[in-house]
Amino acid sequence: MNFIAERNSRIAVIGANGAGKSTLFKHFNGILRPTSGEMLIRGEPITRENIREVRRFVGIVFQNPDDQIFSPTVEQDVAFGPVNLGLDEKTVAHRVDEALRLLKIEDLRERVPHHLSGGEKKRVAIAGIIAMEPQVLVLDEPTAGLDSQGVADLVEFLHTLFRRYGMTVIFSTHQVDLVPEVADYIYVMDRGEFVTRGTADEIFAGPQMLSRIRLGVPVIPRLIRSLQNHGIAIEMAYTFEDAEQAFLDAFQRRP
Ligand SMILES: Nc1ncnc2c1ncn2[C@@H]1O[C@H](COP(=O)(O)OP(=O)(O)OP(=O)(O)O)[C@@H](O)[C@H]1O
Ligand SMILES: [Mg+2]
Repeated sequence: MNFIAERNSRIAVIGANGAGKSTLFKHFNGILRPTSGEMLIRGEPITRENIREVRRFVGIVFQNPDDQIFSPTVEQDVAFGPVNLGLDEKTVAHRVDEALRLLKIEDLRERVPHHLSGGEKKRVAIAGIIAMEPQVLVLDEPTAGLDSQGVADLVEFLHTLFRRYGMTVIFSTHQVDLVPEVADYIYVMDRGEFVTRGTADEIFAGPQMLSRIRLGVPVIPRLIRSLQNHGIAIEMAYTFEDAEQAFLDAFQRRP
């Protein structure tokens, strides 16, 4: 496989269960080593000498938050990474506050992580990685288990990371509707390989291929394609905002 993440890009990796997304992600900070080929971070292979530096640069939020959360309180858990980086107390406190605020979990600060709900744990796990201020944030199924407000908050949060902090974001998801809203480039995986890659319009134009590998097309392009097939003049769109404009234009064109 050939995967490149450019600085300040937002990349989605999609694929059915067992396609290999989590396995791929575990190569990004040296948890797994490639059995063949090369894995380069900033042009350098991962070595024993630079692995700490690599893990500071690339932060990974695992699919299952239980693999990541283990401190007695949420606050201590989020502080774990920054403390490990050797930051002073004041900086750690500042980073923890900021991460809790960004994830909207300030009220969970004193709670026992083990007793939190699935979606709450997910947010704590993300906060713990954010507090380390990585340049590349890798999120494996970040929306799994989040309620609809939680998903909306996450999308907004990812936009903030991208715009305000210039972070590179790589994520996997089964919620294809989310992909055009968040990603500017998409890799599609099937059985351990990339079967295709491209922008939303390139990927979601060919529904047959996607359904063959157990993936769907987001509802917006699917609906617009269907209207076009019924002879209605409407521009293709992939995000909610673009679709809204396309529908307004189509309706206003009508006599
Ligand atoms: N530690 C392991 N040892 C052996 N096989 C593994 C291991 N971890 C994963 N696999 C296998 O590798 C394949 C890819 O798994 P992976 O977890 O990367 O898929 P995924 O795309 O993340 O799937 P999902 O959408 O369900 O999270 C699966 O067939 C899985 O059974
Ligand atoms: Mg997975």
